[in-house]
Amino acid sequence: MSVVDVRKVSILGKESIHCGFHLVPYIVKTVTETLPSSTYVLITDTNVGNLHLHSFHTEFDKAPGNARFLTYVVAPGEGSKSREGKAEIEDFLLLNKCTRDTVILALGGGVIGDLVGFVAATFMRGVRFVQIPTTLLAMVDSSVGGKTAIDTPHGKNLIGAFWQPEYIFIDAAFLETLPAREFSNGMAEVVKTAAIWDEKEFAALESRAAEIFAAIQTPSTDFAGRASATRSPAQQLLLSVIAGSIGVKAHIVTIDERETGLRNLVNFGHTIGHAIEAVLTPAMLHGECVSVGMILEAEVARQLGVLSQVAIGRLTRCLKAYNLPVSLSDPRITSLPASSSLSVEKLLDIMKIDKKNSGPQKKIVILSRIGATYEQKATVVADLVIAKTLSEAVKVVPAFPSKSPIRMATPGSKSISNRALLLAALASGTCRLKNLLHSDDTQVMMNALVELRGAKFDWEDGGETLVVTGGAGSLSVPKDNKEIYLGNAGTAARFLTTVCTLVSAGSAEQRTVITGNARMKQRPIGPLVDALRANGSSIDYVESHGCLPLSIAPAGLKGAHIRLAASVSSQYVSSVLLCAPYAAEPVTLELTGGQVISQPYIDMTIAMMKTFGIDVERVKDDSGRLLDVYRIPKGVYTNPSIYNIESDASSATYPLAIAAITGATCTITNIGSASLQGDARFAKEVLEPMGCKVVQTETETTVTGPPLGQLKAIGLVDMEPMTDAFLTASVLAAVASLPPNEERTLRDGSRPTTTRIVGIANQRVKECNRIKAMIDELAKFGVETLELDDGLEVYGKPLSELKEGVSVRCYDDHRVAMAFSVLGSVVKDTVIEEKRCVEKTWPNWWDDLANKIGLEVEGVELPSVHGLGSASRPTEDNSQASVIIIGMRGSGKTFIGELAATALGWQFLDADAVFEQKHAIGVREFVQKNGWPAFRAAETEILLELLAHNSQRHVLSLGGGIVETQAARDALKAYAQKGPVVHVVREIDEIITYLGEETARPAYGEPVVDVFKRRQPWFAECCSYEFINYTGVLSSTDVLAEDDSKTAPSALSIRDEVSRFFHHVTGQRPNYAPNLAKGRRSYFLCLTYPDITPALPHIQKMTAGVDAVELRVDLLRPSQDFDKLGPYIPPTAYVNNQVAALRHKTTLPIIFTVRTVSQGGHFPDHAEKEAFELFIAAVRLGIEYIDVEISWSEKNILDLIARKGHSKIIASWHDWSGNMHWDGTAVEVKHRIAHEYGDIVKIVGKADGIEDNFALHQFVLRMQAAPDAKPIIAINMGVQGQMSRILNSTFSPVTHPLLPTKAAPGQLSFSEIQTALHLLGQLPSKRFFLFGTPIAHSMSPTLHNTAFEALGLPHKYELFETATVGEEIKAAITLPHFGGASVTIPFKRDIMPLLDALSPDAEVIGAVNTVIPVTREDGSTMLFGENTDWRGITQSIRRALPARMLKPQAGLIIGAGGTSRAAIYALWKLGVPTIYLFNRTESSAQALVDAFPDVNIKLVQELGKWPDEGPAPTIIISTVPASATSLKPSASDAIFLRSSILSAPGGVVIDMAYKPAETPLLVLAKNVGKEWRTVKGVEVLLEQGYEQFHLWTGRYCPKSIVADQVWKAYSMSA
Ligand SMILES: NC(=O)c1ccc[n+]([C@@H]2O[C@H](COP(=O)([O-])OP(=O)(O)OC[C@H]3O[C@@H](n4cnc5c(N)ncnc54)[C@H](O)[C@@H]3O)[C@@H](O)[C@H]2O)c1
Repeated sequence: MSVVDVRKVSILGKESIHCGFHLVPYIVKTVTETLPSSTYVLITDTNVGNLHLHSFHTEFDKAPGNARFLTYVVAPGEGSKSREGKAEIEDFLLLNKCTRDTVILALGGGVIGDLVGFVAATFMRGVRFVQIPTTLLAMVDSSVGGKTAIDTPHGKNLIGAFWQPEYIFIDAAFLETLPAREFSNGMAEVVKTAAIWDEKEFAALESRAAEIFAAIQTPSTDFAGRASATRSPAQQLLLSVIAGSIGVKAHIVTIDERETGLRNLVNFGHTIGHAIEAVLTPAMLHGECVSVGMILEAEVARQLGVLSQVAIGRLTRCLKAYNLPVSLSDPRITSLPASSSLSVEKLLDIMKIDKKNSGPQKKIVILSRIGATYEQKATVVADLVIAKTLSEAVKVVPAFPSKSPIRMATPGSKSISNRALLLAALASGTCRLKNLLHSDDTQVMMNALVELRGAKFDWEDGGETLVVTGGAGSLSVPKDNKEIYLGNAGTAARFLTTVCTLVSAGSAEQRTVITGNARMKQRPIGPLVDALRANGSSIDYVESHGCLPLSIAPAGLKGAHIRLAASVSSQYVSSVLLCAPYAAEPVTLELTGGQVISQPYIDMTIAMMKTFGIDVERVKDDSGRLLDVYRIPKGVYTNPSIYNIESDASSATYPLAIAAITGATCTITNIGSASLQGDARFAKEVLEPMGCKVVQTETETTVTGPPLGQLKAIGLVDMEPMTDAFLTASVLAAVASLPPNEERTLRDGSRPTTTRIVGIANQRVKECNRIKAMIDELAKFGVETLELDDGLEVYGKPLSELKEGVSVRCYDDHRVAMAFSVLGSVVKDTVIEEKRCVEKTWPNWWDDLANKIGLEVEGVELPSVHGLGSASRPTEDNSQASVIIIGMRGSGKTFIGELAATALGWQFLDADAVFEQKHAIGVREFVQKNGWPAFRAAETEILLELLAHNSQRHVLSLGGGIVETQAARDALKAYAQKGPVVHVVREIDEIITYLGEETARPAYGEPVVDVFKRRQPWFAECCSYEFINYTGVLSSTDVLAEDDSKTAPSALSIRDEVSRFFHHVTGQRPNYAPNLAKGRRSYFLCLTYPDITPALPHIQKMTAGVDAVELRVDLLRPSQDFDKLGPYIPPTAYVNNQVAALRHKTTLPIIFTVRTVSQGGHFPDHAEKEAFELFIAAVRLGIEYIDVEISWSEKNILDLIARKGHSKIIASWHDWSGNMHWDGTAVEVKHRIAHEYGDIVKIVGKADGIEDNFALHQFVLRMQAAPDAKPIIAINMGVQGQMSRILNSTFSPVTHPLLPTKAAPGQLSFSEIQTALHLLGQLPSKRFFLFGTPIAHSMSPTLHNTAFEALGLPHKYELFETATVGEEIKAAITLPHFGGASVTIPFKRDIMPLLDALSPDAEVIGAVNTVIPVTREDGSTMLFGENTDWRGITQSIRRALPARMLKPQAGLIIGAGGTSRAAIYALWKLGVPTIYLFNRTESSAQALVDAFPDVNIKLVQELGKWPDEGPAPTIIISTVPASATSLKPSASDAIFLRSSILSAPGGVVIDMAYKPAETPLLVLAKNVGKEWRTVKGVEVLLEQGYEQFHLWTGRYCPKSIVADQVWKAYSMSA
């Protein structure tokens, strides 16, 4: 064996922990030599086994002696750490006759270590065992300390033992194969150990994260690292980190093996971390939860006043550097559905059962600084304190600040901190920096200066003070040519670029390299590099030109004249200025490029250089004008002994404002009149005129407020020099209820308590639109404001009049949160919703409020988003809520509203009509007489009355101008919470054309287009749904002409569309796909067009058989954008039009899908906001199904769910990686998430072989077995996955040969799937019959067989002619594969006794024309009788009836045979109030009257003469043979059809006779005029046949294909 160097760590008095690299030979040798045995058993999991088991085999084979070497491999993951898992191993050991001398080796992560350790502890009452941890977590934590355990369903680690291993071999080379996330998981424990115990170790972890990662990411070859000589610096570092961490744990364990006190310390972060883990496992790993736990527990320490923010900052940045989450709002956590259960209450509840607790009291390890804890054990912490840390919201308890007179410093200014740090490091002597703001910039700058050996840093006062020992400008190239990594710290990068030129030459080849993360490598540095190069420095770009990384020669800075372009960043200028004193020659810095940006920052640098002993001169021209030229003398900075970093002046406004508003006194100790920051003027210029006493020295500011409630308004104040402070001023102005001082009083008639803040327009584009935010949030307190172009007016009110209990939204803006906490200090129960947003500039604001100002702060838990209501979610109770219709005049509100009311069976009311009735005057005259404002007021009043008195089962259409008044808009928005407000949208051009003919209502008096533009946003804001009254594309293409249905389409389609839409929005009967029901198969067609309109003529053909159409919205593109490359966001208006066009042509529900590029579509990946805007637009259009990928952020998904109304969500997950296994846990996790979000779950994987489809099928069966199972779409992509598309039963996506491309590889057509199902025995061929006589010429076989063939169904429809209903028919209907039958004359009644049940329709009509075999739950078959004749008739009437004649007053039926029964029923169902019946034999007519006692049937003696002078019929149906009618009065054997029967202005005439095509009745109707529409018998036959087909197969009949064939056959037979 080659040389092996191990580092040994002692535990419990034995040096049993051996650390190194590539140790397998060493392990086997040590074990076999020092733990002699007859049997060695190595236990591992499959992951580790596959990677590393062979090397153990090789070594054991080589070992001397004849000991057995057995191996046992378990499944990876926590699941193996169970009682069963333990038993399996024990059985293996027993079966292999292992005895007490067996040595067990545990090779793997913590799961293996815990499980195998416990087996060893109890097998034969305990055998020797060895830990060979392979994860970082196991190396530094679980393997050390002898804790072993298994999990039970009752909890983790509940059964186990303390059992110490003989050895723990830490082979860090195993980490090279460990997934990065698992490595980070272990780093959480490493960071934790350093944080509680060893500040030096922590500092190394803090600064060397990149190297540590590099050590595991670069595989070592040739066993490098086994011997110290071959160990790379990275390996050395890694090993020292691991050994260091183990050393601490081993030390603690040695002192307190059984965890009675000290050992508790290693539980830092675990009290809260475990609770989080309990909720988020297995999606989040232990270390990840502990990482968040550490930050939260550190915040508890800060809240208790024990830990400084600096320490929290360091801990946070350090954990982040190892890719660990540091807050519960980390996207990795918020994207998990389980995260919604992370309530404060739940977490506290879980913490109750922590092992560390003493009784009910919770214990937390309290950090006092980095590297030390408050006590040598966990500390008892009150629930209230923990709750406050955990809660997202807070409230300040109003009181007089108990710490008044308050003396405090606010957090350091960021820019001053960066400069001070560099100055102190470059200076000679020692400087104590106080109040340093600890940011990424200062962190990396310190690391870099240490690498450059330019200064030394130490912390004092628990991190409050940074002690800098300056290097007087002496700098060296980092050791071993190490690169300096700057992350994304921009200021540091700019400052350090010049600093690196100062490095003195060691050897000529050495250079300093500074680099950063990917983002940093894109940020510009060019102008600075150009200036330095021009001055003689050698700087190379290592990667891309103009950006980091830079390689800088250590040649010193030449100096003399330096020219720098300063129009991009003032930091370039500061960088050169700060380093200039160390140049070889005195520097004259000339700024070029015209406009110099941010002069105040340059001035700040110069002022600070002066403090450190170097005077910079700004050159003036002869006239005394300042030039952009600076002279910097040579010299060395001298460190002042203390440098107080000035507070951020904007932050200082909050404590000062608290003094002002409460009447307390507050001194800010490091902001005064000498401050360079504009916001320092706040005290003098705002607070003093408000009535405060202000004392300001050069360095301090003291404010004493007037007594509570005595603040004065200040009239006009220009806050341009201190824009960030306007929010603070606004909250004070809100309670400034006294008028301003005389000189500030506004003389323009403003209200007496006005504070008019101007000069702050830039605040609209800060973290949020701050002006709007202040206006909106102040309004909640009842404070009135007025928005100005460049500011706002606030009207002060007495404190007592402000509303209490307000919940303030902060818009993730720290300044909004802090400003409103000032108001919260005097207004009771003011909740600040997002407390954490203060972290940006003042992370411990809430603690400082309590600890330094003396105001109590309480945690508040906000109601979760799940509980919130939404504008477009009418609940069950609201399904009767009236529908309100709004929209432009001329958009079709009345027309659509009436159709909607008819469809719903509700009452229609037009607000205009109600108006005229109430005021007994026309709208036009009213306006002429009283003017517009009076009309608007009256109109709004009517709206309120309508809402009050007609809130249920009404469709209310409102005037177009209703949205013009705020009051009406408010009423509409409020109503939208209860019921649907539908905006009828119509294109403006069409409105104009339409209005051209209209005069009934008042003219606008302004161009319609302007009115349209003004109202459009109001309509959108007030409505919850949009109905697109769509005619655009239809009229502009030849869609109509080419349409595939034979009769007038649009009247019916508009009516159907209106009906579907309003049934959906009211929730009365949403247009869902019935085949989604369990036990049925459903399909959808994917439309993959950029523009679907050209495909519309074929849509019926393409959708044959399917249950829905999917609109792939991401593929949509208007023609002008066809040739644009790359991802694309289609405009919403275009999408709306496409939806409307589609709905005109198909009644199928729509699935609305937006897939991004990485989800396999064309939508840009990062356009989440736009995607959800489209989803919300889809909800507003009443789209039935919305496909939402679960990878979108949870917040947006939950928001969509809250607003989805009656739309259903398909929550989908696509695995494009091909890594997902249907029998793995990942897919279950995805299923769980999708199940939580969706009404339907969709999971798409990839198949490598056919067996992947079986695994999928098993998965689906398993998931479907759950009691709360939801429909699941599960398919495998690719050709290998085609099988899954056949087996999938819910919404299988299908393509069609007419489509341009398949939506996904491997997609099949509907008919292909049916064929495949048939071949697989899943779709047996069935037989259908027509019973009747004579039937030889029937069109039914053509009809049904054409449909079967078109859909790929293997069925057959046959004629079955018999003389009577007898044994033959009985035999046919009981055949095993009987699929159904049509029944015609003369058996429609005779068949009835053979059937088990009749539909209510068939019952009433008293005739059956359709037999359907229905499978009962027990598997037996029941025969069901239905009548589709009447439906054929109603459908034909609805199709043919002109839209205007919606409500026929009377209908006429000629004949009283079997068919007339169906006709009567059809008219009755259509709501025709009077039905005339004419039959030559009156007695049979009377029999019908008797058969329908509820129907108003009037017998007609003579055609054309209507009883009781009733209205002329607009629907006429003849049910007698054509030969029984005649147009000649002389015909004695036929009914004379006189033209007076068509005396109504128009209507529909139907002749049920098939032959001839033109019956006398139809000829008569044609001759009378075009307002009479005619329907032939074959058309009715077709309609009833479509219905019949649907009943038998559950599939919509492919109407156009069938109709073509039937008409062809009919014309041939004619
Ligand atoms: N006993 C203790 O004191 C203690 C302390 C902390 C945690 N634990 C226990 O440890 C367990 C978690 O341990 P873990 O995080 O190591 O999980 P783990 O054992 O499940 O390992 C994580 C994953 O990494 C794989 N893996 C392990 N080593 C690998 C390598 N070198 N290369 C590639 N893949 C590798 C594993 O197969 C597994 O899939 C939990 O059960 C926890 O309760 C115990």
